[in-house]
Amino acid sequence: MSSYDVIVIGAGPGGYVAAIRCAQLGMKVACVEGRETLGGTCLNVGCIPSKALLHASHMLHEAEHNFATMGLKGKAPSVDWKQMLAYKSDTISQNTGGIEFLFKKNKVDWLKGWGSIPEAGKVKVGDEVHEAKHIIIASGSEASSLPGVEVDEKTVVTSTGALELPKVPKKLVVIGAGVIGLELGSVYARLGAEVQVIEFLDAITPGMDAEIARQFQKMLTKQGLKFTLGAAVQGTSVKGGKATVTYKLRKDDSEHEVVADTVLVATGRKPYTDGLGLEALGVEISERGQIKTNDRYATNVSGIYAIGDAIDGPMLAHKAEDEGMACAEGIAGQHPHVNYGVIPGVIYTHPEVGNVGETEESLKKQGRAYKVGKFPFMGNARAKANFAADGFVKILVDAATDRVLGAHIIGPMAGDLIHEICVAMEFGAAAEDLARTCHAHPTYSEAVREAALACGDGAIHA
Ligand code: NAI
Repeated sequence: MSSYDVIVIGAGPGGYVAAIRCAQLGMKVACVEGRETLGGTCLNVGCIPSKALLHASHMLHEAEHNFATMGLKGKAPSVDWKQMLAYKSDTISQNTGGIEFLFKKNKVDWLKGWGSIPEAGKVKVGDEVHEAKHIIIASGSEASSLPGVEVDEKTVVTSTGALELPKVPKKLVVIGAGVIGLELGSVYARLGAEVQVIEFLDAITPGMDAEIARQFQKMLTKQGLKFTLGAAVQGTSVKGGKATVTYKLRKDDSEHEVVADTVLVATGRKPYTDGLGLEALGVEISERGQIKTNDRYATNVSGIYAIGDAIDGPMLAHKAEDEGMACAEGIAGQHPHVNYGVIPGVIYTHPEVGNVGETEESLKKQGRAYKVGKFPFMGNARAKANFAADGFVKILVDAATDRVLGAHIIGPMAGDLIHEICVAMEFGAAAEDLARTCHAHPTYSEAVREAALACGDGAIHA
């Protein structure tokens, strides 16, 4: 039996960050992980592999659509799917290996196996029981199921199976127009699949600023994705390697069927806490299956904490990372704080979508007076040169004080550009602060400044 100050259960972005931070703060730390490699869902079967496939398929798109115009002539590349998967696997290994290196560097012990908590202060991994003054649960999430839909990870897949398909399907049906469905739907559409997205609601990407969502849908439709909105999937059946998806249109209750080579179920995720022994410990769980915590990530059982997808809030790797750091710092006696009002969301399609803070809809609901500053990438020189002039930046500010309340970007590098606004919001900046900051020319970030200028006396290039 070994004794630790902290044992973290789960080595995803929440868990590994918490473990490293605890070690940096002088604690003796171990992290339990049952997968063959560190990094959790994000690095192994989520964010990182999907970004590799998005990048590769975007390169193909550029070659097919823009190379000749730029004077780059030659045979268009063809898809070697096996090699693309190998590139994806290599990207994963580099990143998971990186975490292993960081664990060694920070002297975090990796306890290999699946952990459980037989009692507060103890973590069991395999046959061994280890002692810990503090236990941080960072066990993440899993794809939620849909009644009538049986996932076999071959024909009917979650994102995990969709990252390992034996070949590019001719017809892919995606259930759910959320982040996973649209990112992976984009990948396969670019690789030549016919992609149909079936969504329960009347709009894509629930919770997103509605104007951006409409623009996003238009752009994806132009790229070949077909949307069936207001449709509730009833079930799937598989025969001879093909799947039939049955759905009902909500407007008239009519029933429809579509046959596909592959069906991707992307209807959300739920906390994964199986096998931890939480019920026996008496750890409080919400009706949504999330571990209940206070503002220091402590559960109702002394010495047990929880962070990331297993607790309340958006299921995002960076939210989990922030909570991991804050939880560690709290255990060390510091006074950390996570600002949940400034957590960016990014969809890594092309163009990207980045958002932070309030939407027009949420401000209307609050009855708060606001102003909108918008700027299209069509007025941005760099975007025009790079075939990336579709989309716009939209900044929402308080009508009286000019303070930035939220921002929504659809366009090139939106996932990076959004962080200028995040920093501004953290400092309580006004749009004028952004507008008066010199931005290098020619960069995409000038579009952010122009949108800020549009909150005042007007953008220059619009
Ligand atoms: P999601 O919650 O983003 O979207 C699920 C969609 O499925 C919703 O639009 C919902 O209305 C629809 N839906 C539910 N039941 C349906 C039915 N019976 N028929 C038709 N449509 C139905 O969930 P998603 O895309 O699975 O992602 C899961 C989590 O992973 C999210 O919290 C997401 O934020 C996170 N994630 C984040 C990424 C990023 O930040 N880039 C990338 C991938 C995942």
